[in-house]
Amino acid sequence: MQPLKVGVIGVGRMGQRHCRVYANLRRAQLAGVCDANAQYGRQVAQQYDVPFYADVDELLANVDAVSLVTPTPQHFDLAMRCLALGKHVLIEKPITQTLAQAEQLALAAEASGLVVQVGHIERFNTAYIELKNVLENMQVLSANFRRLSPTEGSNFDVDVVLDLMIHDTNLVLDLMGQEPTWVSAHGLSVFSGTIDHAVAQLGFATGQLITVTASRVTENKIRSIDVTARQSYVECDLLNKSVLLHRHTIGEYLNHNHRGVKYRQESIVERIQIPFFESLFLELQHFVDCVLEGHPSSVAARDGLQALRLVDTIRADILRQLVVVDAQAALPAQPAAPERVLAR
Ligand SMILES: NC(=O)c1ccc[n+]([C@@H]2O[C@H](COP(=O)([O-])OP(=O)(O)OC[C@H]3O[C@@H](n4cnc5c(N)ncnc54)[C@H](O)[C@@H]3O)[C@@H](O)[C@H]2O)c1
Repeated sequence: MQPLKVGVIGVGRMGQRHCRVYANLRRAQLAGVCDANAQYGRQVAQQYDVPFYADVDELLANVDAVSLVTPTPQHFDLAMRCLALGKHVLIEKPITQTLAQAEQLALAAEASGLVVQVGHIERFNTAYIELKNVLENMQVLSANFRRLSPTEGSNFDVDVVLDLMIHDTNLVLDLMGQEPTWVSAHGLSVFSGTIDHAVAQLGFATGQLITVTASRVTENKIRSIDVTARQSYVECDLLNKSVLLHRHTIGEYLNHNHRGVKYRQESIVERIQIPFFESLFLELQHFVDCVLEGHPSSVAARDGLQALRLVDTIRADILRQLVVVDAQAALPAQPAAPERVLAR
């Protein structure tokens, strides 16, 4: 079978990662790149020894499928152009900037019969995949999703809900298989003039309570999901790829040590084996497989639309009462160092 000819539109920070992965996928061939910044685009094209196209239509004429990795405001027009020219497209998250655009794009994607995938990369995180397996036969009561980052490294042209929390709105909807019946959210604006720290609580018709926190003012990078289920407590670390299962305490005296002293078996912690594959590799491989094998993506345009719709509801609730923190204000005084007492 011929490899799938794939192009990348937008070769900035994330687009270059797509280029690297496509260049190493067995069933794909990186066949060209396009970027609004020609000097920059040429450099990347040279690095991968592929043609550079200044014009999107020229790139589309030479490929079967593309990754769309431009800034979010450009997603809608470019994705519609790809569909009009009959090209399969992987659109980086968020699917579009506005809900109205996402609704229109989801309809167009479904009518086209083409593979349209949205870059909700955490769906391909092997720790998340194992978490879902572990929870399959459990009754989930509540969960706590945390996506916390230091200030540097985020896209400040969009708020933290659209930039970071959208990863978790997609995971929540996937895990729960239903939309929340109520949402209550609060947020802080610390330095960007928009939401920099957000906490959302989501309630479901089946009773579960989910808390989602996203931040770009936290001096530590954390990506985690903690789940309280009737049967156990599960800790999933998406960054370091680990899943820990805390089984119920057995409240009985069970054991004797060699001196005959009884001790209590308090709890059992199981560490689940997680295969260490790069999420982006699995994500792009799934896209290529769907196109070559003619089946729809498991993260389709409609999933992108639903994640964005939940983000929109959360954001609207936060903006009703956004707390603006005066970042210039003096920090609380540190407690004075204890006076040294000189020995006489
Ligand atoms: N899945 C993830 O974890 C993840 C991580 C980072 C970024 N992203 C998403 O990827 C997208 C790009 O983010 P980034 O950080 O790489 O941005 P970036 O600014 O680093 O790169 C964007 C590139 O697109 C080019 N571009 C802009 N308009 C264009 C157009 N009309 N045609 C062709 N090229 C154009 C720019 O010149 C630039 O090189 C965003 O939608 C972002 O949300 C996703």
